[in-house]
Amino acid sequence: MNTMSRKKIVAGNWKMNKTLPEAQQLINEIINSCVEDTAVQKIVFPPFLFLPAVSLATGQRNDFFTGAQNCHTHDAGAYTGEVSAQAIASVGATYVLVGHSERRQYFKEDSHQLKSKIEAVFRNKLVPLYCVGEVLNERKENRHFDVVGNQLSEVIKELSAVQLQQLVIAYEPVWAIGTGETATPQQAEEMHAYIRKIIAQLHGEAVAEHIPLLYGGSCNPGNAAELFSCPNVDGGLIGGASLKAADFLSIIASIKLLVNN
Ligand code: PGA
Repeated sequence: MNTMSRKKIVAGNWKMNKTLPEAQQLINEIINSCVEDTAVQKIVFPPFLFLPAVSLATGQRNDFFTGAQNCHTHDAGAYTGEVSAQAIASVGATYVLVGHSERRQYFKEDSHQLKSKIEAVFRNKLVPLYCVGEVLNERKENRHFDVVGNQLSEVIKELSAVQLQQLVIAYEPVWAIGTGETATPQQAEEMHAYIRKIIAQLHGEAVAEHIPLLYGGSCNPGNAAELFSCPNVDGGLIGGASLKAADFLSIIASIKLLVNN
């Protein structure tokens, strides 16, 4: 498969931001200013509470999707304060972020738990966007490839061929998230190529070539085009810059240019 035939995706992780009216305004502004183009999938990940409203808006388009930022491993039960993949699917969302570094860091989510979450996501016919990435010290100690390789293999090793067909992965170096410091295109490309190599070792070349790999970490309108032009970078997972319609639209426009040229 040549790189251009892989799915291109720009995703916005809104994290714990916005009120309901603000979330509705943001998604409407984005959708209304973006010409329909299925060559680039756009996904937004609002807080759980806003999933029904945002899904309703994205549901009107073939190129926009809504996802949740997390889910529980079980489909139902006595887990006060948690939200299941089953509930997420029932309000019209399509994707679930699994293993975002803030979940790993602040909520101590480990590979064992993340594996169960991915199973819950697939069980409920949703699509996981699985995040991997090293912290600053791990990079300084030159352990970033090992760390990312382990995060990857521990969780995707046992996925079936059908599940791998759907999986999306994001590489987000933790030192670049919300810091204004971005991985250079060389650093991003090098890690994305490595991730593809690990997937190929586990599941074969064809699977590795098919899976979209997104870059995340201080991606903005100024650096998106250069990052997205790397052969193994198939789009981005955008935090801060996805909270402003103009910035998110500009990032979408930069990948559209590459796809359509
Ligand atoms: P950032 O966040 O773009 O604000 O660095 C990215 C993310 O956490 O997904």
